[in-house]
Amino acid sequence: MLLRFPALCLLQSMCVATLPAQAIVSAPPVRAKHAMVVTIQHNATDAGVAILKQGGNAVDAAVAVGFALAVVYPQAGNIGGGGFMLIRPAHTTGPKKLADGKPHFLDYREKAPAAATRDMYLDKDANVVKGMSTLGYKASGVPGTVAGLVYAEQHFGRLGLNAVMQPAIRLARDGWVGTEPELQSWHTKVLEPYPESRRVYQRNGNYYKAGEIIKQPDLAATLERISTDPTEFYTGRMAKQIADAMQAGGGLITAADMASYQVKDRAPLAGNYHGYEILTSPPPSSGGIVLIELLNILSGYDLPRLGADRSPEQVHIITEAFRRAYMDRGDYLGDPDFVSMPLKQMADPAYAEAWRKTIAPATASPSATLVRPAGFMPQPNSTRDVHESPQTTHFSIVDADGNAVSSTYTLNFFFGSGVVVPGLGFAMNDEMDDFTSKAGVPNGFGLVQGAANSIAGNKRPLSSMSPTMVTKHGKLRLVLGSPGGSTIPTTVANDLISVLDNGLTIQQSADAPRFHHQYLPDALEVEKRFPVSVTDVLKTRGYTIRRQGEFDEKNPGQWGDSELIEVDPKTGDLLGGHDARRAFGKAAGY
Ligand code: DON
Repeated sequence: MLLRFPALCLLQSMCVATLPAQAIVSAPPVRAKHAMVVTIQHNATDAGVAILKQGGNAVDAAVAVGFALAVVYPQAGNIGGGGFMLIRPAHTTGPKKLADGKPHFLDYREKAPAAATRDMYLDKDANVVKGMSTLGYKASGVPGTVAGLVYAEQHFGRLGLNAVMQPAIRLARDGWVGTEPELQSWHTKVLEPYPESRRVYQRNGNYYKAGEIIKQPDLAATLERISTDPTEFYTGRMAKQIADAMQAGGGLITAADMASYQVKDRAPLAGNYHGYEILTSPPPSSGGIVLIELLNILSGYDLPRLGADRSPEQVHIITEAFRRAYMDRGDYLGDPDFVSMPLKQMADPAYAEAWRKTIAPATASPSATLVRPAGFMPQPNSTRDVHESPQTTHFSIVDADGNAVSSTYTLNFFFGSGVVVPGLGFAMNDEMDDFTSKAGVPNGFGLVQGAANSIAGNKRPLSSMSPTMVTKHGKLRLVLGSPGGSTIPTTVANDLISVLDNGLTIQQSADAPRFHHQYLPDALEVEKRFPVSVTDVLKTRGYTIRRQGEFDEKNPGQWGDSELIEVDPKTGDLLGGHDARRAFGKAAGY
């Protein structure tokens, strides 16, 4: 964990533009009367707004944004990866009702190829082969993004796939203009071993420069083929092209794997916090249940009475809630289609109350001596999961009817496995690294994972992506989410607490310096610009502080990317908060 960001910078050249260490003064949130789109890349935001103005709903805009990010933010936006989309219709009856009027969680997470096996990343001595689950052909799961976006459009959209894909096709065909911080990460070594990847993203060493028009003709043709016939990707000629490329490179994905890929339309998880309703991500995301458990623990505190946002008093209590929820995360979670999980017990308020009794008012509880309250949970059958990984992207959308979409999708690492399928112009994921390569053995980024998340054919790897919404008395209040691997649930929790408990604006909450604890390693991680005065106090209370970037100037010193929407409770206006850590993103509405 200590080495997460330096290691990633070194290995993947993923250091992106960072903010100076001094505190940021947040701009006011972007305000709009009717609809709002917030994403990490301004062209993608514009694509979403254009679709809304054409009469599209939030799902039409989300599908447009999803495909557009595959063009203008290909290091994480993708069609070769997978993700989750939380959809909340505003109306349950009447002419404005969207689909069945119920909230849906579309799970379009990648799945392991059928031929994947538990020990596929081990050598003959049962040691994990470094890089095998993160780089190259064997690192990819069967991509789910195209199926997910198509399913979303077909079941919830209004304008039709062809229409909502046009902005992405135009951006790929006619080009877009990148900025230095975006294009810096295209220099990554991850792409270099693969001539096609080097040609497509690195122009064989003549790297794209800020201000240049970037055209992606292969990707434009791929998107056009999908827009005309979406079955092309999974059962058509394109499926065969993908499978042939994977097989030729020594990967496992076959045409049969592509053909059998299915989106899972799941019920979101529901929870409560201080009179608000929480709608969030079920497994195979670990994020939603972790969020519900930690908020249940925090429900017993009046945080603003303890101190201000990011005060030592608040950070202490919130950190202890994080620590306890992450202890359970590691022991119990995996793909719900393969393992049974004590979700009800984890979400039980009585369990949260028992946890609260173990929290000392002012001092840290060391993870090594932390004992789970008896009588609530089954015996765990796995070792712990301390999960982390470096590239993903989140976007939030609300339309003029109040329908909302919160979506996080990923290639896992920057540019995924590094492999671009010849002629198709997109990178394949390395999501197989989200599985347990070997129980108890950390991978190159410090991952130590358990048996519930072991590799099996057709299984989905455990995720931390946590698209979430908050309502009050059934009215939408917040749309939340972020990338950041294992830090995602704590980023979402901090954003939620900053707005609902502490009264920060949605923009201030997105920009606020982050802190994170995940039980193991037993360290309170803070961003580079987190106030030293606060961590100095926390050190005296028994916390080991790990300040990102402290010992390595190449370390970006930050994590996450909150792309958030709040509904102003007084006026009903939509307030967009785009994370100031990424200058090239945008909140926009009308
Ligand atoms: O699904 C997951 O949890 C990871 N593959 C997400 C990776 C991620 O968020 C990296 N972002 N910076």
